[in-house]
Amino acid sequence: MAKITLLRLSLIVLVIGLTFVAVCHVSVVASAVQIKKTYIVHMVKSQMPASFDDHTRWYDSSLKSVSESAEMLYTYNNAIHGFATRLTAQEANSLRNQPGILYVLPEVKYELHTTRTPSFLGLEQSANMFPESDASSDVIVGVLDTGVWPESKSFDDTGMGPIPASWKGACESGTNFTSKNCNRKLIGARYFAVGYEATLGPIDESKESKSPRDDDGHGTHTSTTAAGAVVAGASLFGYAAGSARGMATRARVAAYKVCWVDGCFSSDILAALDKAIEDNVNVLSLSLGGGMSDYYRDSVAIGAFSAMEKGILVSCSAGNAGPSSYSLNNMAPWITTVGAGTLDRDFPAFASLGNGKNFSGVSLFKGEPLPSKMLPFVYAGNASNATNGNLCMTGTLIPEMVKGKIVLCERGINPRVQKGAVVKAAGGAGMIVANTAANGEELVADAHLLPATAVGQKSGDAIKDYIFSDPNPTVTIHFEATKLGIEPSPVVAAFSSRGPNSITTEILKPDLIAPGVNIIAGWTGRVGPTGLAEDDRRVDFNIISGTSMSCPHVSGLAALLKGAHPDWSPAAIRSALMTTAYTVYKNGQKLQDIATGKASTPYDHGAGHVDPVSALNPGLVYDLTTEDYLNFLCALNYTSSQIYSVARRNYSCDPSKKYSINDFNYPSFAVTLETQVIGGSSGGPSLVKHTRTLTNVGGGPGAGGTYKVSISTTSPSVKISVEPETLTFTEANEKKSYTVTFSASSMPANTNEFGRIEWSDGKHVVGSPVAISWI
Ligand SMILES: *[C@@H]1O[C@H](CO)[C@@H](O)[C@H](O)[C@H]1NC(C)=O
Ligand SMILES: *[C@@H]1O[C@H](CO)[C@@H](O)[C@H](O)[C@H]1NC(C)=O
Ligand SMILES: *[C@@H]1O[C@H](CO)[C@@H](O)[C@H](O)[C@H]1NC(C)=O
Ligand SMILES: *[C@@H]1O[C@H](CO)[C@@H](O)[C@H](O)[C@H]1NC(C)=O
Ligand SMILES: *[C@@H]1O[C@H](CO)[C@@H](O)[C@H](O)[C@H]1NC(C)=O
Ligand SMILES: *[C@@H]1O[C@H](CO)[C@@H](O)[C@H](O)[C@H]1NC(C)=O
Repeated sequence: MAKITLLRLSLIVLVIGLTFVAVCHVSVVASAVQIKKTYIVHMVKSQMPASFDDHTRWYDSSLKSVSESAEMLYTYNNAIHGFATRLTAQEANSLRNQPGILYVLPEVKYELHTTRTPSFLGLEQSANMFPESDASSDVIVGVLDTGVWPESKSFDDTGMGPIPASWKGACESGTNFTSKNCNRKLIGARYFAVGYEATLGPIDESKESKSPRDDDGHGTHTSTTAAGAVVAGASLFGYAAGSARGMATRARVAAYKVCWVDGCFSSDILAALDKAIEDNVNVLSLSLGGGMSDYYRDSVAIGAFSAMEKGILVSCSAGNAGPSSYSLNNMAPWITTVGAGTLDRDFPAFASLGNGKNFSGVSLFKGEPLPSKMLPFVYAGNASNATNGNLCMTGTLIPEMVKGKIVLCERGINPRVQKGAVVKAAGGAGMIVANTAANGEELVADAHLLPATAVGQKSGDAIKDYIFSDPNPTVTIHFEATKLGIEPSPVVAAFSSRGPNSITTEILKPDLIAPGVNIIAGWTGRVGPTGLAEDDRRVDFNIISGTSMSCPHVSGLAALLKGAHPDWSPAAIRSALMTTAYTVYKNGQKLQDIATGKASTPYDHGAGHVDPVSALNPGLVYDLTTEDYLNFLCALNYTSSQIYSVARRNYSCDPSKKYSINDFNYPSFAVTLETQVIGGSSGGPSLVKHTRTLTNVGGGPGAGGTYKVSISTTSPSVKISVEPETLTFTEANEKKSYTVTFSASSMPANTNEFGRIEWSDGKHVVGSPVAISWI
């Protein structure tokens, strides 16, 4: 989906570009000025002149002063103060000079980050530890995505009590969707297409419904992962058979459809956040991302700040741009940023070659099996005249050369399932899709349209050697049933976006990882499991992968914690999820990164893999208030306008106060050490101090406890010390501070070093990752 979006976008740009060259050769500049684009206009509401009795009238008059014809697409009241409109570049510039206008920012396009999970997470064994039946049924999870398929069994509301009184939302009707499609589980559904249509024209109703209905599948998958009901006997073609359930089976779902066939536009996303805050959701789940703008220009970061202030936890996908460094989206410290790991479940399908060798792969194929005899085998690059013939792009295979054969295609550019469709269309009997260096050994299973399996890079290379050396290569594929107990698991998915944080290096991101590979959840009835037009199969559940899938796991778990601890702030909930996350397997080995086959680091997994049962009772939390976040913005040296843009208030940083990101009460440490230059040559030890405050949420009789610190580090040249080394709490909600000193006597061997700081009272372990970078 994400790739298609990108390709379509570049096509549009190309067409516009060509038009200029060919038709408007002389007046290129003049035409460019006439083109209208969507802008998000941030207003300083406190500067409204007294002559206006209503802020919307003031917004309207400001807009009319630069453009008589400009239409108000949205007016925002909660996420920001301001509106969205269509303007030429010239009009946008004039608007910037009007009184009361803070920013006029061009709209940004975002894209989606495309039944075993609960027991892998230990939720099933300890179901009764979560006071689910009552508490979490008052929790509402808002999901900004492609909408919902309300007929999914995961939205069955049997046994659910009345809709929480706090709910102020609505179930909007539209094409193929009425208020009757909502119930006590799916309590709200809205759609936001004004910004999308303003840029791309009317929604094509032959392709998608102009309503909250999900014609894509992604939104049904994410929302049922977060809070779907228990559905017994779920599977995809028999794969992953068992009960399918969301993380918070009793929580309520509110769907906000913001993503359409050609992407998700920030004016629509902001409108959805604006409404969701007003509707009183408790958790927001956004499996989408776009760009890496600074917080004051990023609509999701800005909307999330307002949500945070209202006590709403905002959980976002980290992105699928791994394993490159600095590849994260959604990095604001008031957002919970979720990367992806694997489960202990696999779907093996072996490729057996004519030379007797046998390579393991994965597949979700179901259908007419291959004949029992070996079949002729061909490398796609040898059956195509195209430059990238090995990729099996549409129309590139020569039918005479693949008919009746199994074709080896390579991963990349077009969707894996589409490669299968291309082989099938050319008359191929089956496909093996091999990873290249970009994906290494990471295997993602797909519900291919023909018998097919996916193999890693090493196997792919060995298979190619065989094809190129044997004059008559042959192969067959053996499909096996779902396999459980895969070890090691979890491992960090290669696609999961990685740190460091490109906007604020002093904040470690991602925050944590959760299951995001081969996840089963509800699906739309509108398209088949591959999402391809030629796929006429229909399924109730689908198995897909991405940080889009890991994000709603954390959203649902946050809903469980919110239900159990209604008074906890979003920062306290995130802290509980982070400080109890695990970074080692049961045998003590560090969690692996599938991209390298080696131990993963906090830049890959953040605080570690989520462990919900421990998160329920973390002992201590690192809490944060709105004031702390404002001080963080001061520490970034934000101007008053930038702070207003994020926080909708005129907050003056005190020039006499020393604001420090190092003392921002985050549950993790990203430390920057510098080589000190003395008299032109490097020397002197580099020393940095970070201060943190822990809040006792241990509860229970006495509620006290004595916590002792333990420190580990990978670097012999960086010393970490904590003062004091013991913290004693005597009552609930008591706060105690400590200071960590990081010092380097010499330059470490590596530019990055890692460590861990853990506080334990013998019952709880409160762990924080440390990432040290040397500049
Ligand atoms: C509405 O739903 C019906 C039945 O599912 C389907 O046949 C029809 O194409 C849908 N219409 C639109 C506009 O999506
Ligand atoms: C291929 O190897 C795997 C494990 O090494 C084994 O389980 C499977 O049965 C083998 N398949 C064939 C067809 O030899
Ligand atoms: C098939 O492709 C490989 C790699 O491009 C090449 O080395 C080989 O010569 C080709 N074989 C034939 C028969 O064209
Ligand atoms: C591919 O190239 C070969 C040799 O240049 C040519 O004979 C054949 O017609 C081409 N096939 C297609 C489908 O373009
Ligand atoms: C903010 O400004 C101060 C003083 O100029 C400087 O020391 C500090 O590094 C700046 N912080 C950031 C995040 O740029
Ligand atoms: C904030 O208040 C100060 C002092 O009243 C004023 O000068 C400044 O323009 C205000 N900034 C914004 C963004 O409103």
